[in-house]
Amino acid sequence: MQFIQVKDYQQLCEVASQKIIQIVKKSPNSTLGLATGGTPEGIYRLLCKDHQQHGTSYQLVQTVNLDEYVGLAKDHPNSYHYYMQQHLFSKIDLPEHQAHIPNGLADDLEQECERYEQLIERLDGVDLQILGIGQNGHIGFNEPGTSFSSRTHIVKLAESTRLANQRFFHSIDEVPRYAITMGIGTIMKSKSILLLVNGVKKATVLRRLFEEEVHNQLPASILKHHPHVTIVADEEAASQL
Ligand code: GLP
Repeated sequence: MQFIQVKDYQQLCEVASQKIIQIVKKSPNSTLGLATGGTPEGIYRLLCKDHQQHGTSYQLVQTVNLDEYVGLAKDHPNSYHYYMQQHLFSKIDLPEHQAHIPNGLADDLEQECERYEQLIERLDGVDLQILGIGQNGHIGFNEPGTSFSSRTHIVKLAESTRLANQRFFHSIDEVPRYAITMGIGTIMKSKSILLLVNGVKKATVLRRLFEEEVHNQLPASILKHHPHVTIVADEEAASQL
């Protein structure tokens, strides 16, 4: 694993956005694996700015998002469809049919998971997967205990994850209990991975990631077995190292 420590969130966003822009410029038909949550917001802002100012084009790019809540409509302000639209898709030239997110409203959710997994295979895998990390070590919505070989599946969200994400909702009751997520096996098939860790709330989990062996109670620990992972962390997140 390559580890890059930066000063603050702004620098983290600059490093991460530059890596994405480099890949898209080098291989305009890349498949990008995208994440949601608070961490990537600033990165998407910089990608939009770069698109406006320097014209980096996403015409041939495909994107696959990590996860989506079950039961939220695409236009629900807390759905990840809406998030991606607001933060990135509406501001760059990525064709709509090339932006893929699991459908948390599918009639048959199992079938939707299968469809999504096959779609990623058809795209020949993800070239660069962006990841945040949950305070309990989850990646995507793969909670502690998830099998390392899991494929896209439905998850029951841990209460700690619901509480952490409550800040985006009016109340805890509104936070969905289930989600569809790429599995850990799906994520591990990505050709390269960029794990972004910022803020003091992530200091403990980043320390655990460095100190602990690979075990499925800390889902992100499996990344140590991936040949091309870069972790970018700011000073606050790295404060316990
Ligand atoms: C969420 C998402 C993850 C995200 C993580 C951290 O629950 N499903 O994909 O990486 O938790 O979120 P944040 O960046 O807001 O701390």
